[in-house]
Amino acid sequence: MTNFSDNFPLGDRNTFGLDATARYWAEFRTTGELRDIILACRERHLPWYVLSGGSNLILTGNFPGVVIHPAAAEITLPEATLVRAEAAVVWDELVAWTVERGLGGLENLSLIPGLAGAAPVQNIGAYGAEAKDTIETVEYFDTETFDTVRIKGADCAFGYRDSIFKGALKGRAIVTAVEFRLVPEDTPGGGGYTYNIGYGDLHDRVEALGGPTLDHIRRAVIAIREAKLPDPAVTGNAGSFFKNPVIPAAQAERLREAYPEMPGYPSADGETVKVPAAWLIDRAGWKGFRCGTVGVHPKQALVLINLGGATAQEILNLARRIIADVERKFGIALSMEVNVL
Ligand code: EPU
Repeated sequence: MTNFSDNFPLGDRNTFGLDATARYWAEFRTTGELRDIILACRERHLPWYVLSGGSNLILTGNFPGVVIHPAAAEITLPEATLVRAEAAVVWDELVAWTVERGLGGLENLSLIPGLAGAAPVQNIGAYGAEAKDTIETVEYFDTETFDTVRIKGADCAFGYRDSIFKGALKGRAIVTAVEFRLVPEDTPGGGGYTYNIGYGDLHDRVEALGGPTLDHIRRAVIAIREAKLPDPAVTGNAGSFFKNPVIPAAQAERLREAYPEMPGYPSADGETVKVPAAWLIDRAGWKGFRCGTVGVHPKQALVLINLGGATAQEILNLARRIIADVERKFGIALSMEVNVL
């Protein structure tokens, strides 16, 4: 098949560094190319999977079909405050681009690994901001109708690490570009941009740099992430391995009787509480745990790490042990944040 690479190694294409191959690998730059790839998959009855930055992925074996990868990576400014990023733009390069131009909204999301096209899929978030706060439009290719669709952010069913692309459009939509509505740092005539530095130690770090600016927030976030999270280029990992569980407020209250120091973030209606999975895993004694080729990051208990040569099964076995232990100790069922292929 034209433009399809056979037996393509994926070891460098996933941040956990897991060895696997794709029967075929196909890159697209345009919607026309994507259409041809999907047509070829249909004709040959091949399954397909879109691999973006591979930073939230566990590869359990060789993929028997076509791994599709976006290649177009242009950033444009269709309007003064509207930034358009094609799917293969490196996320952090997009953040740097916006910060350099004094456009606020993405700076708290600095240094998140991956590509821009994946940002709306799992509604990436960090330090009090989420992609959904700025996404105005998502462009995707509909693999059933072959249409190019523009969907408004408000219609993307965004939730905590969740969106329509993980729900109703899963396995159907392939994101080709994302538009972000940003706010100028120095709005002429006043108004101005509201910096978001309420999260954890971000405020103090930003003050230490001389107070809030987009550049200072970006630098502070990068410093915090570099201190807590392992660099995937050195230690294979997929960032947060589990989601932070949301539990009924009554259950949180009961747990607080036994663990008064348990952190928790109540929902707006007060009915549920989001508990940091990192705290549960840490308190259960897993932080820094090592077993053969896999372990729990010593500085952030939510991050599972490949100590060298790990297999997907070894990682998933460790995850199962942690889930069972947290369930036994706290009565909370953790769910995985990573995608398993
Ligand atoms: N904590 C511990 N032990 C640890 C780490 C943290 O007890 O080893 C406690 C901390 O004391 C704190 C709480 O857990 O009270 C939260 O920790 P942190 O601020 O590090 O954030 P998180 O909830 O573990 C989430 C996101 C991260 C994001 C950070 C910062 C999820 C699943 N993870 O982690 O996102 O960078 O907040 O906003 O929501 C990712 O999704 O891959 C990711 C890294």
